[in-house]
Amino acid sequence: MSKPIKTIGVLTSGGDAPGMNAAIRAVVRTALAKGIRVMGIRRGYNGLLTGDIYEMQSKDVSDIIQRGGTMLYTDRCVAFTKEEGQQRGAQMCKVFGIDGLVVIGGDGTFKGGEKLANLGINTIAVPATIDLDVACTDYTIGFDTAVNTVMDAINKIRDTSTSHDRCSLIEVMGRNAGYLALWSGMVSGAEEILIPEKDNLTDEQLIRLIIENRHKGKRHNLIIVAEGIGKSSELAKKIEETTGIETRAAILGHLQRGGSPTAIDRMHGSMMGSIAVQLLAENKNNKVVAYRNGQYVNYDINEALQMQKTVDDQMYDVCKMLSM
Ligand code: ADP
Ligand code: F6P
Repeated sequence: MSKPIKTIGVLTSGGDAPGMNAAIRAVVRTALAKGIRVMGIRRGYNGLLTGDIYEMQSKDVSDIIQRGGTMLYTDRCVAFTKEEGQQRGAQMCKVFGIDGLVVIGGDGTFKGGEKLANLGINTIAVPATIDLDVACTDYTIGFDTAVNTVMDAINKIRDTSTSHDRCSLIEVMGRNAGYLALWSGMVSGAEEILIPEKDNLTDEQLIRLIIENRHKGKRHNLIIVAEGIGKSSELAKKIEETTGIETRAAILGHLQRGGSPTAIDRMHGSMMGSIAVQLLAENKNNKVVAYRNGQYVNYDINEALQMQKTVDDQMYDVCKMLSM
């Protein structure tokens, strides 16, 4: 029989995502409800390596569920990608008496969690990234808020684009994944989306589409460009030079990661954070929490990291069909 968990640590890592605070709150309060101590680790794996760790009480997570960002701060920690850093991290868990760890972040964070799990630290990973690119889960905390933020920004760009009879290229985040671009394109009624997972229109085909749209009477063309495609400023220049249609590129940038989380993100953050602690309390270790087919499930962390994810073909096809 494994020993019951007495102290858990919690950290957020990688890009922040709205709803991380709801997850931290759920971790802290579920642990305290079960008589488990909680240690907050600041700035992801950096804080683990430097010992920036403090004991958390229930009041520490009051008044955070509605806030964007993460009250534990976050970082990208290069030292932790090396074996020496991972061993120091595992050692630090022992120094602080942490016998279970909840890591909240994207697939990079999950890989760090896997390394700690393989070094004997009971670890549970919770998916949180605006990119939606964690393979084992249909949902990652932060995505819904980000899509709504992008949709709101595009609504505004549409107003000015229409007033000026312009073509607008809107570059959205997502690192190498096109989920945020696909969803944003669908819900904003974009004329075209360019995402890394698909064979996109060539520049020439895109220019032809823009001209055809103009002949059909469309006053604006909204083109969503995923970050993984990039080059939106160059492409805007090429479109304008070739067609004579005024074209502007808007790279939305970090505003996409901020803002008060939507109800969906608060709900998933709360549920997934709580489930992570429940798994540790039941001695179900080295797991990832996931949302699949409308249910919360968990997978072995090594198994989860082998999974692959692609964009939904049906969603992509419908998006293209509706953009005519
Ligand atoms: P995300 O978690 O949002 O995908 P990153 O890819 O930046 O963000 O990863 C967050 C952190 O996770 C990195 O800064 C690093 O500390 C850790 N990490 C990423 N990849 C690995 C890896 N292969 N091994 C160990 N740690 C990793
Ligand atoms: O992973 C979230 C994300 O916002 C990606 O979409 C983007 O590529 C990256 O983080 C940006 O990272 P940084 O905040 O370090 O510029």
